[in-house]
Amino acid sequence: MSNPPIILGIESSCDDTSAAILQGQKILSNIVANQELHTQYGGVVPELASRAHQQNIIPVVDAAIKKANIKKEDITAIAFTKGPGLLGSLLVGSSFSKSFAMGMDIPLIAVNHMQGHILSHFIDEGESMPKFPFLCLTVSGGHTQIVQVESPNKMNVIGTTIDDAAGEAFDKSAKLLGLPYPGGPIIDKHAKTGDIHAFEFGKPKIKELDFSFSGLKTSIFYKIQNNMQKNPKFIDENLADLCASIQHSIVSILLKKLEKAIKQTGIKQLAIAGGVSANSYLRSELKNLSETKGYKLYIPKFEYCTDNAAMIAIAGYFKYLDEDFADQSETPSARLSF
Ligand code: KG4
Ligand code: ZN
Repeated sequence: MSNPPIILGIESSCDDTSAAILQGQKILSNIVANQELHTQYGGVVPELASRAHQQNIIPVVDAAIKKANIKKEDITAIAFTKGPGLLGSLLVGSSFSKSFAMGMDIPLIAVNHMQGHILSHFIDEGESMPKFPFLCLTVSGGHTQIVQVESPNKMNVIGTTIDDAAGEAFDKSAKLLGLPYPGGPIIDKHAKTGDIHAFEFGKPKIKELDFSFSGLKTSIFYKIQNNMQKNPKFIDENLADLCASIQHSIVSILLKKLEKAIKQTGIKQLAIAGGVSANSYLRSELKNLSETKGYKLYIPKFEYCTDNAAMIAIAGYFKYLDEDFADQSETPSARLSF
């Protein structure tokens, strides 16, 4: 049997520049350069993100190749994020990948970022992997979806957000509390000592398997505004309780629809993916639910939850097996569905 292919993955869809090397499904390296510079602006500034990707991309790829202890001539194919994401950011990763593929005369593979998040479960680190079909709750800064995954290259979105994404709900709530960007991990941290029932917020009434978070945001805004008028120290004095209650509201919205999807499809294998799957309360609530109801749950390793190129490389690996290659005229797409 021939050796498994060595895939270089490139991720540059938002504010992380990442390169990873996989041999088959085994990881040899996964380097991520975060862009701290956006914190001061309270969100990602697209123009600055593109410039930082341009600065980081070659050093990050170089570091990934060195860490993997291979030569660039050993690479079988290069996979890059085609979208969805910020166009200027995507252009840096795609242009680099096309040049690399041409220079090295190797196949080029275009990967959907959200598909990458889901397939991160198939990076082989000696742990059990989901069996098909399974349901994946895919929750990031830009997306909130329930995906029915039939095979690595066949997946259908059966529920999606009609307004904000779950990560956005975390980040925008954090902003209302005066916390820096990205607020999700900070809310998670403060919530650990708070009471989840301290504050009640509006609950969405959306049909089928779709989500909505904009009403929650409005409800949080008025709760804070009304209380701050009475007590200017309201946020400071109640930060842990506010974070715990907000986090509980967001996670409850997610779990309610996931349970509905399980009932509708009869599929009892669950996975989570995307940046918000790093949330400790979501993880523990999902574990509780799965233990009580007898579902099989797969949670990705922490480093594969937020944006990384290992997930792009593993998605690239499955496309490589299908010989699903891109040509040099491929262009990135800010809005890309499955
Ligand atoms: O997948 P990701 O890294 O980038 C996108 O593709 O959007 O997700 C980033 C999102 C941000 O909204 C961030 O606040 C959220 O994931 N996030 C979290 C946590 N860690 C990251 N949200 C809640 N709790 C966390 N621990
Ligand atoms: Zn992502």
